Amino acid sequence: MTDTQRPAVVIDCDPGHDDALAILLAARHLDVRAVTAVHGNAPLERTHANARRVLELGGRTDIPVAAGCDRPLVREAHFAPDVHGKSGLDGPDLPEPTMPLMDAHAVDVLIELSRSVPDLEVFAVGPLTNVAMAIRRDPGFASRVKRFRIMGGSLTFGNVTPAAEFNIWADPDAAHIVFGAGTPITMVGLNVTMQSLATPDRRDQLRATGRRTAIAFADMLDFYAIGEGQYSGLPGGALHDPMAVATLIDPTIVTTAPLNVQVETARGSVAYGMTLCDGRGLDAAFRPRGVYTQGGATTPNADVATAVDDARFWDLLFEAIASYA
Ligand code: BDR
Ligand code: CA
Repeated sequence: MTDTQRPAVVIDCDPGHDDALAILLAARHLDVRAVTAVHGNAPLERTHANARRVLELGGRTDIPVAAGCDRPLVREAHFAPDVHGKSGLDGPDLPEPTMPLMDAHAVDVLIELSRSVPDLEVFAVGPLTNVAMAIRRDPGFASRVKRFRIMGGSLTFGNVTPAAEFNIWADPDAAHIVFGAGTPITMVGLNVTMQSLATPDRRDQLRATGRRTAIAFADMLDFYAIGEGQYSGLPGGALHDPMAVATLIDPTIVTTAPLNVQVETARGSVAYGMTLCDGRGLDAAFRPRGVYTQGGATTPNADVATAVDDARFWDLLFEAIASYA
């Protein structure tokens, strides 16, 4: 892609180790107009600081960072220090940022960019509070944005609960608004992201580059392996958020199927925060097999990831991170 062909994007995120990978993967290939921070893996004051720490690490202080919502729309806030550490980005010794925050709220930044940038795409890889607020605040926002590429939910199992994935569970009401907004959506859920791990070999590969940024990521991913591994039992943290970014850079890495997705918002439900995907048009291996007609067909509102080419995804991600000094 030449510079003029690079799609314009915003990254709405809660860094977060895998968010950090998403930011620098996007910055390498896409025209990143802003990073907007939201509560999630850590409190907002940490996620916006971490976004700036990552951009400073990658030498991309030209990308502005705005702080957004510090809590979910309705439910109480939950953070993930057990996975991402108290700072939200434990592991490497990254200094506190010196680049300033934008003097604007993230929701206003999202709305303004949707007005001024044609075909803007939004990566949403944290709880969906900022995006839902933009939809509610400006009725034209949902139709101006070309696509939301969401890391969240799952076609199968959850991680915070058997049913629910963290980003959706952390603000199900916001997710309900986003999935009902009518904007094209790509949903990259745990059913695919858990197939791509930052294994010890891959961390070694980053370290072996001898480059400062790649080594910092190896340190980050060592910490994240412990955080995620204590729950998953797997030998590395899952590369959740950069996979959503990869869907735009190389659309052949992740396979999707158009499905109807509803978010369970009922408190007390065992499925609270679940993305209920109408998979009745898929076969047992999640391949599209046509339209299911019995029991009432539902209209697709999202392209849901059903498979990933893990080796090619890692090559893309490694090459991007290794390209930084
Ligand atoms: C998601 O939750 C966070 O812990 C990660 O950053 C990712 O966005 C995975 O469930
Ligand atoms: Ca995230």
